[in-house]
Amino acid sequence: AVHRREDYRPPAWLVPEVALDLALDPAATRVRARLTVTRNSEASEPLRLDGEGLTPLSISVDGVAVNDWRMEGEQLVIPLAGAAHVIETEVEIAPERNTQLMGLYASGGNLCTQCEAEGFRRITFFPDRPDVLATYRVRMTADKARYPVLLANGDPVASGDNDDGTHWAEWHDPFPKPSYLFALVAGDLACNRGTFTTGSGREVELGIWVRASDLPKTDHALDALKLAMAWDERVYGREYDLDVFNIVAVDDFNFGAMENKGLNIFNSRYILADPDTATDYDYDAIAAVVAHEYFHNWSGNRVTCRDWFQLSLKEGFTVFRDQGFSADQGSAAVKRIEDVRGLRASQFPEDAGPLAHPVRPESYLEISNFYTSTIYNKGAELIRMMATILGPVKFRAGSDLYFDRFDGTAATCEDFVACMEEAGDVDLSRFRLWYSQAGTPRVSASLAHDGGRATLRLAQQVPPTPGQAHKQAMVLPLRIRLFGAETGQPLGPEQLILLDEANQSIVFEGVAERPVLSINRGFSAPVTIESDRTAADLAFLARNDDDPFARYEAMQQLMLDTLVAGAIEGDADHRAVIDAVGDTLDDPALDPAFIAEAVLLPSESFVGDQLSMVDPEAIFRAREALRGDLGRALTDRWRTLYEAHTTTAAYQYTPAAKASRRIRNVALGYIAASGAADAAELAFRQFERADNMTDRQGALATLVNSDSDLREAALDIFYNRYAGNPLVLDKWFQTQALSARADTPAVVAALAEHPDFTLANPNRARSLIGAFAVNQRAFNQADGAGYRFLADQLIALDKLNPQTAAKLLPPLGRWRRFDAARAALMRAELERIVGTAGLSKDLFEQASKSLEG
Ligand code: ARG
Ligand code: ZN
Repeated sequence: AVHRREDYRPPAWLVPEVALDLALDPAATRVRARLTVTRNSEASEPLRLDGEGLTPLSISVDGVAVNDWRMEGEQLVIPLAGAAHVIETEVEIAPERNTQLMGLYASGGNLCTQCEAEGFRRITFFPDRPDVLATYRVRMTADKARYPVLLANGDPVASGDNDDGTHWAEWHDPFPKPSYLFALVAGDLACNRGTFTTGSGREVELGIWVRASDLPKTDHALDALKLAMAWDERVYGREYDLDVFNIVAVDDFNFGAMENKGLNIFNSRYILADPDTATDYDYDAIAAVVAHEYFHNWSGNRVTCRDWFQLSLKEGFTVFRDQGFSADQGSAAVKRIEDVRGLRASQFPEDAGPLAHPVRPESYLEISNFYTSTIYNKGAELIRMMATILGPVKFRAGSDLYFDRFDGTAATCEDFVACMEEAGDVDLSRFRLWYSQAGTPRVSASLAHDGGRATLRLAQQVPPTPGQAHKQAMVLPLRIRLFGAETGQPLGPEQLILLDEANQSIVFEGVAERPVLSINRGFSAPVTIESDRTAADLAFLARNDDDPFARYEAMQQLMLDTLVAGAIEGDADHRAVIDAVGDTLDDPALDPAFIAEAVLLPSESFVGDQLSMVDPEAIFRAREALRGDLGRALTDRWRTLYEAHTTTAAYQYTPAAKASRRIRNVALGYIAASGAADAAELAFRQFERADNMTDRQGALATLVNSDSDLREAALDIFYNRYAGNPLVLDKWFQTQALSARADTPAVVAALAEHPDFTLANPNRARSLIGAFAVNQRAFNQADGAGYRFLADQLIALDKLNPQTAAKLLPPLGRWRRFDAARAALMRAELERIVGTAGLSKDLFEQASKSLEG
């Protein structure tokens, strides 16, 4: 059934208190639930409890067994006469047979839960919706030898041993919470302990729980947690509220991590790190995800969502908060560049394709399909725009008001915007369109100069998206500055322009020299800018702009224009890009971390997004040609940089050391692109000498594109060195799936038969199938073998884990962007998926929507 936002009704019954008693066993876990329910409606509405795959073993009302209940589909319906009752139910579930990894499941010999969005109904009968807030008391009993550690939400209350070899523990969470935040863990786990004292003096015991052999890899996560706790106090005035905060890492997990109250559960890839196994990228991601889940304690848990259409209320805001945290740990400019690159890699294509939806969707079939880049990353951009419009002081006042007013409740996106409006004393009525209109706005900008006056003409247009043919003009905050073409100096201060009409002109007086336009500085609005700036103007901005993001952006636009010309015409003039890259490398004032980002070419898929029809081979050739020319024309610079950043000092995780590794690996890539005869040897030497995974994987990523014998040698060494380390084996699969070599499709097909490949583990499935499907050239080979491979894998995966299968489908939905032959091949695979018997609603929704329109 389709769920619609307009159908929201308050719950007929509330559940202020829950007591759970679980006799944990992988094959047969008994769950007894005692719910205190109170009527929330006048009508004689029966109590409706959600269940999935559950059979009631017994049901009682106010201590008396009843049998006037019925099942309506998967809902348990119990008629109740009064205004308050106590309901007890008992069910049995089998965590070891739970391959969907939703509800209670087994991972690596331990038991754990995942309840967001609708997993709690797979554990017990309950009104499984986010606006039913209860306090939970949880009692667990389990075999003591097998599951020595028993954790749940809130604070530990009591524990003890039984004389049959089992033990028990009781936990109590005093904060009312929706069922999606419920969690428990039973396992053989070791703990890295820490403490944090909050601003008001609360001593919090911190614990990172992992298998004992992984304990040495948990310091980074623990440090990040402490930094995040301090940051949220300093920047948002938010303190932690329980005596314990636990994080458990598990190997089998459908996404990144989960913010369960007081007991976060993580995909182990976002916890475990040491220099030998984790890259700098991994270290950064760990800190960001630890912070993200911690920040949810306020933006998500203390204030939760009224219904799942409001998901971005907690996710967009929390992503914005974790981005701010990460920006404060190192280079804010580089962080912004990375975030925008991520937005363009996943959200812009989503907004331009068949699965486009507003930040606050109107309908869904399966909510799991809406944990998207639009909800998370575009949602974060909406918060950022409001922060830009209000300024930091008013934005903080709006945030304080929101937390204060809605603490302990389930709120809506509208509630958040209203707080910003009130505290900021601004009118955001038209800004709200950002929540309801899908699609990435396009802004065209042209600047005329006449006498001492410059006129900037702006026009905006929001493209049609499924179900939204006609759009209104939106409110776009654009940070703008003009620079003098002769002097290179700014012509006046930066301005914030609110473009809120289809067409708007802005006049600048007293402009003596020819102005060059710097627009959407800091990426102040998540839009596409089309301007009449020449290659010379862009090169000028790449040298002179004082906003680091705008400087990066000018370079990207110059590269993009060159690549588009190369893809369409088969050839392009590379001189302007070569000069701009050369100047960037030579600028002593620039941060090496920034340089490393600025000299990277836009991705093949982003180039494809600029074309009316994607020709993957032509894009690949144009990009390789430019990379080759950059490699050759600047070969001395790349070699010098490479040597300058080659160090004999031991590994450190500091911003400066990270920047060195980054730029050195970028240089290595360009040396290889130049076709230099010694490139493979250089990479192999780096591979062998590296004392850290960043350099080792950087070298492997270069070697994996080469025809040298050293390629196989490095892959074998890497595989043998890390046999038994699943997170590093994921990198081994992923690096090969991303290779630019022509034989990648065959290599990937063979890897799918490798003994270490399994669809049962989401990380492993994503490392091969997910990586292959974003490898533009390999996936889109003309014979359609890539499409067939993906469809085969998704049909197989759907039987085990629908949620993860559905997440991997979107690349097949991009058929409208390709030639008729490829489009037909992609559609045929989508039709084959839709026609598969027993398909999940997760995969059905994504595949059928991808065929429509
Ligand atoms: N709330 C979690 C987070 O963002 C993610 C939950 C994802 N759930 C899902 N069904 N995909 O931190
Ligand atoms: Zn989140």
